[in-house]
Amino acid sequence: MPKPIPPKVLSGLKRQSNQELNAAHGYLAMSIWCSVQNLKGFARFFAKQADEEREHAAKIIDHLINRGVPPELEALPAPKQDFPALLDLVQHAEAMEQANTQGIDAVFTAALVENDFPAQVLMHWFINEQVEEEAWAAELVDRVKHASCAGSLSDLDRHVEKLLADDGGKED
Ligand SMILES: [Fe+2]
Ligand SMILES: [Fe+2]
Repeated sequence: MPKPIPPKVLSGLKRQSNQELNAAHGYLAMSIWCSVQNLKGFARFFAKQADEEREHAAKIIDHLINRGVPPELEALPAPKQDFPALLDLVQHAEAMEQANTQGIDAVFTAALVENDFPAQVLMHWFINEQVEEEAWAAELVDRVKHASCAGSLSDLDRHVEKLLADDGGKED
């Protein structure tokens, strides 16, 4: 049997797995909103984010299972589904990512305090991931702010996935 997970780390991991599922739910709602507005590029981008967040939850769930603890899925609250405009939506995405970073930092802090090395290593991956997630969210807010006319917005919609790819679409 592996060494038990310290209670504070365990509760943090369980909470964070649900926060990741919550984020997936939130991004799915954003993707739907964008589809309805005929912003197909944004809709695809947020659908991908929803898939990624589900993968993040799965990483934590696997970690718990491997350490002999059954994960506990909670009921998900309804995500925000009404946005006055695309800018409000991307600002909401940015706030969600910032809150997610706080959740990860809290798990990492607990893992440090409790000397839980496996959870520390797991959280290293998440800490790194959040740097990328907050970067694209901030970039998105900036780009949407500057897409002032309908033409530039539909241009942004066409290229958003490529622009926000890890390499920034630089090779093209
Ligand atoms: Fe995540
Ligand atoms: Fe995220």
